Amino acid sequence: MRKPIIAGNWKMNKSYSEAKVLLDEIKNLELNDDVEAVVCPPHINLALAKELLKGTNVKVGAQNSHDKDSGAYTGEVSPAFLEDLGVEYVILGHSERREYFGECDKFINSKVKAVLGHNLSPILCVGETLEEREADKAKDKVKTQIEADLEGVDAKEFDKVVIAYEPIWAIGTGKTASADDAEEMCAYIRELIKENFGEEAAEKVRIQYGGSVKPDNVSEIMSKENIDGALVGGASLEAESYQALVNFK
Ligand code: 13P
Repeated sequence: MRKPIIAGNWKMNKSYSEAKVLLDEIKNLELNDDVEAVVCPPHINLALAKELLKGTNVKVGAQNSHDKDSGAYTGEVSPAFLEDLGVEYVILGHSERREYFGECDKFINSKVKAVLGHNLSPILCVGETLEEREADKAKDKVKTQIEADLEGVDAKEFDKVVIAYEPIWAIGTGKTASADDAEEMCAYIRELIKENFGEEAAEKVRIQYGGSVKPDNVSEIMSKENIDGALVGGASLEAESYQALVNFK
């Protein structure tokens, strides 16, 4: 059985003082223990999140990581630092990082392996643009990303790997993929994992959907067989709505 995982990607939102308020609220929420709840604040607030969420079941994730442990990489944060802090998840290959920061599959692949090497769980984001979907190229795009970004990952590691299918046209737009379309792509991703890494890996890997997930559509999305969770931006920035997402059942 795959445990459902609802992760809030705060993106570049919430200053230190604002994060303190939201994390204090999250700390006091009644959350369903059968669901893994994760918050991914900006790096500057990770230590604060670890501190304030101590004693709760809410896990902490980073929004990015470098692939090297240390060195002359101004402005970057290493997977070793994240491990040292007790962070458990790292979002990698988000479409915003691919688009605005020029991250390519090769670099993302290297980060995925580095993060796994530090006992952290990558949340690998993949997804197509609207143009690609309209040209019937969505699956080709996702296949390319999955195969390139996970190349060389050991099949045994897939109990730690999370994949987030985030169609770019659905991010922050209010347009959600229909639950059936999301399920179709998530089932395809599981099939790709089976082809490339074997049946056991495909059974273990958790696949999230992301893109305008809200309290009012989360249950339908989560009812699908191959969707094990959601990666949520906007709707995770407010405690009550975050609680409704985690308690989707
Ligand atoms: P929204 O939920 O704001 O559409 O963002 C989705 C996303 O990009 C999560 O990583």
